Amino acid sequence: MNVVTPQVREILAEIRASTGDFRSARTMPPEVYTSEEFFQFEWESVFAREWLCLGHVSQLPENGDYFAINVGPEPLIVTRAEDGEIRVLSAICQHRGYPILENGETGNAKRLRCPYHFWSYELDGSLATAPEMTRTCPLQELKDETALPALKVELFGGFIFANMDPDAAPLGPTLDKLAPEMEAFDTVNLKAVKTVDYPNQPWNWKGMHENALEPYHTLFVHAGYHDVAPAQNATFLEWDENDGQVMHPTGFREMDAAFTPSGQPVLPIIAGLDETRRSRVMFASIPPVVFFAFSPDQVFVFLVLPESADSMTLRVTWLFPESSIKEPTFEWALDVQNIINGAINEQDFVTNRRMQRGQRSRYAKRGRYSHLESTLPQFNNWLVKRYESYLAQTGERLPEPADA
Ligand code: FES
Ligand SMILES: [Fe+2]
Repeated sequence: MNVVTPQVREILAEIRASTGDFRSARTMPPEVYTSEEFFQFEWESVFAREWLCLGHVSQLPENGDYFAINVGPEPLIVTRAEDGEIRVLSAICQHRGYPILENGETGNAKRLRCPYHFWSYELDGSLATAPEMTRTCPLQELKDETALPALKVELFGGFIFANMDPDAAPLGPTLDKLAPEMEAFDTVNLKAVKTVDYPNQPWNWKGMHENALEPYHTLFVHAGYHDVAPAQNATFLEWDENDGQVMHPTGFREMDAAFTPSGQPVLPIIAGLDETRRSRVMFASIPPVVFFAFSPDQVFVFLVLPESADSMTLRVTWLFPESSIKEPTFEWALDVQNIINGAINEQDFVTNRRMQRGQRSRYAKRGRYSHLESTLPQFNNWLVKRYESYLAQTGERLPEPADA
């Protein structure tokens, strides 16, 4: 399917004006958020070739554990098979294409069975049984030619990444800036305590990352809630061409703070963090799916799972060290913290929803960025590089920006 349609080409014609830094870049063309054709282009140029974060190893502690997660039109299953290895499989049954699990299903099993005609698969994806098929061919023949397709997998800091492109370059070498955070928070050994889905959110997946990555709005949209980490305390990093992450820290007014009315944490401070990390929140995206916030008392994870240009599911997971989880007040503290986090999220949801509506207006313009939005042209740089490399394969090039 040719996804570089005339409309997509028209949108891309001026897109380079959104690259560079906050002084020079213009905001993205509004159509990148609203056009279904552009979403199809992004599906092929970004999602089908990039590393997609699907969860954390602690969500599959035992052999036999699995969970299902849909990314766009692709239902996927993350498994830990008998050999202990983590795999990411397509959930599409190789008989006639029934998705064998629904988004969000989790469990522990020896095999996965398709509900349609009961073909069953081992957790490594190989076919185990298929009823009423021996008149067609011997079972062994069917087994030899049938397996749930496996995606390429890479673990980074305990997070599970999958790639639909079998030739994808490794992710790790692009994450030099984020690796020290993962190490300091010992993310490999953190535990996911809770996962909540917010389905059918009516905005574009990029809007979700943008809002999460820029501190500018926190002064206004989250006034009061965010005062403990004011946007003026945000700092930004230089952008490198090969960066696989977009990230920036915002400093707290004081060490060991949290987003609570008093500014004091209700959850335990994570043991072993240095003073720098106890004094800030590090916000980071590894596009296109995952966004993290590393706070002194918790790591939370947003998975941005698009369904179309203007719809996505947000999957939120909270990670803690075992020592925090064992505290007798942990459940209570998490509930209290989540009342506040929920209120902040709701403010962002309203913002994202209205922004998406604004992008549909004929008067939506390509505005300028504040220095407090330095991460947004960086995110654009990341995206445009992917758009360009996809086009290059089709022999096309993007026009230079008008003022270059
Ligand atoms: S489609 Fe799965 S068994 Fe038929
Ligand atoms: Fe926000």
